[in-house]
Amino acid sequence: MQKHITQITLIKPDDWHLHVRSGAALKSIVGMTAAQMGRAIIMPNLNPPVSNATQAHAYRQEILSALPKDSEFNPLMVLYLTDNTTPKDIQEALDNNVVAAKLYPAGATTNSDNGVTNITKLYPTLAYMQKLGMPLLLHGEVTRSDVDIFDREAVFIDEILSQVVHDFPELKIVFEHITTKEAVDFVLASHDKIAATITPHHLLANRNDMLVGGIKPHYFCLPILKRKNPHQSALLAAATSGNAKFFLGTDSAPHATTDKESACGCAGIFTAHCAIELYATVFERQNALHKLENFASKFGADFYNLPHNTQTITLHKQDWVIPANYPFANSTIVPFMATKTLSWKQLD
Ligand code: NCD
Ligand code: ZN
Repeated sequence: MQKHITQITLIKPDDWHLHVRSGAALKSIVGMTAAQMGRAIIMPNLNPPVSNATQAHAYRQEILSALPKDSEFNPLMVLYLTDNTTPKDIQEALDNNVVAAKLYPAGATTNSDNGVTNITKLYPTLAYMQKLGMPLLLHGEVTRSDVDIFDREAVFIDEILSQVVHDFPELKIVFEHITTKEAVDFVLASHDKIAATITPHHLLANRNDMLVGGIKPHYFCLPILKRKNPHQSALLAAATSGNAKFFLGTDSAPHATTDKESACGCAGIFTAHCAIELYATVFERQNALHKLENFASKFGADFYNLPHNTQTITLHKQDWVIPANYPFANSTIVPFMATKTLSWKQLD
């Protein structure tokens, strides 16, 4: 009989897709990630976006000064691509320790109005990134109004991603927060420079959780939650497969309670309060706890050619109830799975 596991120690994980906002909102929540993660890829969709090296440097300084004292958390900065981003912008970003560039199709999600309207306009910039080995991070959804919101990721693969991979065979690409079987299959069929992040909420929830028994704004995010079968099941299989192309990226995206509970609620699910515990819950349910460390702490770093963290974290098997809300700037935020019980807990 398998011994009952009561604690697990992991190399400190990294979050390869995270929103921390700025100002008072940043100060409210960044410590939660810093307590669990060694590094995080910081999304640049501020308003205005982080679209040059100077802004990226200033944003990094703001994050560092918002961290708890003695924190060793390392925010990894990302450039926001617009129609006007040039190879020179990429070079300057690289010279200022920016590690990747993010493509938001214009209008795809929160603060993406300055995103790219037509990817072919960026081909000289992508060619330069390919030459430098700088990863392209993709919000993989088309935004045409004739495409159903549940189909936007699959159409993006057919119409855009396949072409980009064909035209830039050496470009490193992270297909961010994948949500569909089509995305899993595409990544599996691609060469080793194509990887994907998977969020805890797309592993733990499907569109029924958002819509059955009343509309639940705290389950609304982009890309939107999909069906259990075949999509959520495909993500569970991919995350726990041990394949190094799939790694941790929470897409924790905080919005104040009032901005979510509204006639036009914002997209974004907040998971930073217990990200690693959520993933541990997933991996335990799949009988794959022994594969959590690779997914959370190794595969992402390997893809970015960064060393593994030297610290560790320990999770204990212990029931605790997720709070109904946390303070967030001068408001509150409702976390993912608020008031539900989790059975793993990182103890300080
Ligand atoms: C993100 C946000 O709020 O910044 N929202 C979300 O639903 N994931 C933006 C994004 O990553 O799409
Ligand atoms: Zn995001």
